[in-house]
Amino acid sequence: MGKGLTNYGDEGFSLFLRKAFIKGMGYTDDALSRPVIGIANTYSGYNACHGNVEALVESVKRGVMLAGGLPIDFPTISLHESFSHPTSMYLRNLMALDTEEMIRAQPMDAVVLIGGCDKTVPAQLMAAASAGVPAIQLVTGPMLSGSHRGTRVGACTDCRRYWAAYRGQEIDDQEIAEVNDKLVPTVGTCSVMGTASTMACLAEAMGMMLPGSAAAPAVFADRQRIAEQTGTEAVRLAMEKVLPGDIMTEAAFENALRVLLALGGSTNALIHLTAIAGRLGIDVDLDQFDRMSRETPVLVNLKPSGEHYMEHLHHAGGLAALLREIQPLLHLDALTINGKTLGDNLAASPHILNQQVVRPRDNPIYAQGGMAVLRGNLAPRGAIIKQSAASAALMKHSGRAVVFTGLEDLATRIDDPDLDVNADDILVLQNIGPKGAPGMPEAGYIPIPKKLAAQGVKDMVRISDGRMSGTAAGTIILHVSPEAAELGPLALVRDGDRIALDVAERRLQLLVDEDELASRRASMSPRVEPSKERGYRKLFLEQILQAEEGCDFAFCRPDISSRVPRAR
Ligand code: FES
Ligand code: MG
Repeated sequence: MGKGLTNYGDEGFSLFLRKAFIKGMGYTDDALSRPVIGIANTYSGYNACHGNVEALVESVKRGVMLAGGLPIDFPTISLHESFSHPTSMYLRNLMALDTEEMIRAQPMDAVVLIGGCDKTVPAQLMAAASAGVPAIQLVTGPMLSGSHRGTRVGACTDCRRYWAAYRGQEIDDQEIAEVNDKLVPTVGTCSVMGTASTMACLAEAMGMMLPGSAAAPAVFADRQRIAEQTGTEAVRLAMEKVLPGDIMTEAAFENALRVLLALGGSTNALIHLTAIAGRLGIDVDLDQFDRMSRETPVLVNLKPSGEHYMEHLHHAGGLAALLREIQPLLHLDALTINGKTLGDNLAASPHILNQQVVRPRDNPIYAQGGMAVLRGNLAPRGAIIKQSAASAALMKHSGRAVVFTGLEDLATRIDDPDLDVNADDILVLQNIGPKGAPGMPEAGYIPIPKKLAAQGVKDMVRISDGRMSGTAAGTIILHVSPEAAELGPLALVRDGDRIALDVAERRLQLLVDEDELASRRASMSPRVEPSKERGYRKLFLEQILQAEEGCDFAFCRPDISSRVPRAR
């Protein structure tokens, strides 16, 4: 145990007191003289994606002790997508604050961050970037896929597919109940290339996680071995004092953005990368991202853009198989957490070839990157579309707007048989942005109105200032900025307005003249009033930044440095 700063003038007494308390748990002076490796334990009974965390903590501890360190685990907030009301995004920054301050408050020479479910890895990397303590990421790993009546299924692209079939009355009550038992057959994160899998791959691509560790399933022995190695590596990081900012450099973020595009990964990951980079004073520029997208094909054949599941990516060689294909587009000299460069790690990784799962560059799933950045008078600060999961026929489309003013309005009217809506209309959902809902829910995947679903309509152009789950697919425009609650142009759209989308040209236009828009704007006032709130919600509404800024809290950016000293 090192010296504390909380000594109030008597450093010796402070250390004496700490040792007295920790010895209450039976430690010897020998144990307490070792490098201390903190382990962020995010086990929670509410979080099935983290159902293996306790076993991972044991394996990490073994690795730490094999390398001569002292492991000490500590709890932080744990966030599961389905049990984080109103949205997990509302709580991501709270987890980042909690994690950062617990790293800072408690004596540790390095920290192992065990995350997995969507928002946890971003929160932990944001925290690590700001806390400035040697850190290594470990993910819980993906769940296995299941089987329903002979068809392979997995969370949660198939959750949506079966539910859409149920809404369209293609399957009955009994079948939907049966499939409910099969979608999540083990602990671990969603088995498709949703946000959790995407963030795991990006953490590895950025060098913050050991090579080969993104795709190993939660219940495999490989996962426990990776945990042990992570513990061992953490001791080296502590001795060599390698900081997160040494690994997460501009080159590392560029590598992560390339990989995000080539994975056909989750749109959420763009917001998360922006937030993590922002903690280190690095800007993620949407126009640069779009230029990268034009030259980076989607090669990973996983749902929702493709066919397979994470366990198949693991068997196909994991992320290395993709990195090898896009090597010319990467900064191979970027340093990674094991002290070697990305290029060295790649050269040392097993060479497995399964072109069903990771396609060669000349036979991509999609010729461009998974995402495109749209601009126009409807989204002056940008919007994005996951083009690899969209319908080709709708990529250039204009139609009549059918507008919902918020989540409640959507819930009341979307299935109304009298709703005035046709298949070629454009569904617009307002006020689900960072401030609007609040917390930018994944409601951008607006359901197809029931009467159209029953006629067999599978996709429509949908526009919102919200997000969508990384496991969802469709011609869905997200992250429209500025958001409606900030009186961005999205707030001005009315039923019957015409909207034009042209993905190839990267345009999103509201075809209403400027004078009319100005007069609509003059009659409106912002919907959000932080002064009327209390507690976390007040803090959130006052501080939350827009999508293209990563939805971090303004006060967490590095230009305002923390005055709270770190424990040593
Ligand atoms: Fe946790 Fe999908 S719900 S990863
Ligand atoms: Mg998700």
